[in-house]
Amino acid sequence: MSIVTRKSPREIDLMRRAGRIVAEVLALVESELRPGISTAALDEMAERHIRDAGATPSFKGYYDYPASLCISIDDEVVHGIPGERQVRGGQVVSIDAGAIWQGYHGDAARTFVVGDVPDPVRQLVDDTRLGLMAGIAAARPGAHIGDISAAVEAIGAPAGYGVVRQYVGHGIGTRMHEAPQVPNYTTGQRGLKLVPGICLAIEPMFTLGTWECDVRPDGWTVVTRDGSLAAHFEHTIAITEDGPEILTSV
Ligand code: MF3
Ligand code: CO
Repeated sequence: MSIVTRKSPREIDLMRRAGRIVAEVLALVESELRPGISTAALDEMAERHIRDAGATPSFKGYYDYPASLCISIDDEVVHGIPGERQVRGGQVVSIDAGAIWQGYHGDAARTFVVGDVPDPVRQLVDDTRLGLMAGIAAARPGAHIGDISAAVEAIGAPAGYGVVRQYVGHGIGTRMHEAPQVPNYTTGQRGLKLVPGICLAIEPMFTLGTWECDVRPDGWTVVTRDGSLAAHFEHTIAITEDGPEILTSV
C-alpha cells in the first residue's frame, strides 16, 4: 500500500473547487434525468460542464475508460458505460462523476429513481445515502478508518441489504485513488488513524439482494450476481480539526 498523504489548506482549497464542479455536474444531470434521455447525452452534458469550468474529466482515459460519467442502471452497481440506451421510468440510476482542478481530484456519486418505484426500492436508495452520511459522520480526527466502515455497515447490514465488498472507498488527492482503502464493512482491523488533512472518498454500495458482484464482458460494468437492484452514494471529504468537511457539495 502506498503512502497516505495529508493535504495542506491550499491543497484542500483546490479539492473544494474540484468537488464543487463535481457536485454541479450531479445537480445538472439530475435536472436532465428523465425517461427517453440517452445516457450518452447525460455524459456529454457532464463533460461540457466540467470543461467549461476549466477542469478535466478524471474518468475519461482512466485505464482507457471511454466516458466522463459512470451511469449504472438497476442491477448495475458501478462503472456502467454511457451509451445510446435510453433511461426509462421505474429505473434506479446511479451516476458517478469525477473532475480534476489544477491537479486535484473530486469524486462523487448519487443514485436517482426515475418516476415511480416500489417503496422498498426508494428505501434502498434513501438508506444508501444514510450509510454514506453515517460514514462521513464517523470520519473525525482521532477515529480510525474502521470506524467509518463500521458506521456504514451498521446502516446497511441490519436492514438486510447486500453491502458490496469488492469495491471500496479510497484516499484521494493528486490521484483519484490513493491510500488508504475505505471498506464499507468491518475487517477486524481498526485501520489508519484519521488526522486533519487526510482526504477520503467514502462510497457505500448497497443492494436488495446479495453483496456479490460480477463484471460484465465489457470489462467495466459491475452487476449484482443475483440481478438485484443496487444503489451507490459517494462524497469526497477532508478530515479537519473540527470534523469531516464534505468537498463535493455545491
Ligand atoms: N468514481 C469511481 C470511484 O469512485 C471510479 C470511476 S472508474 C472510471 O472509484 F474508470 F470510470 F474512472
Ligand atoms: Co470513488
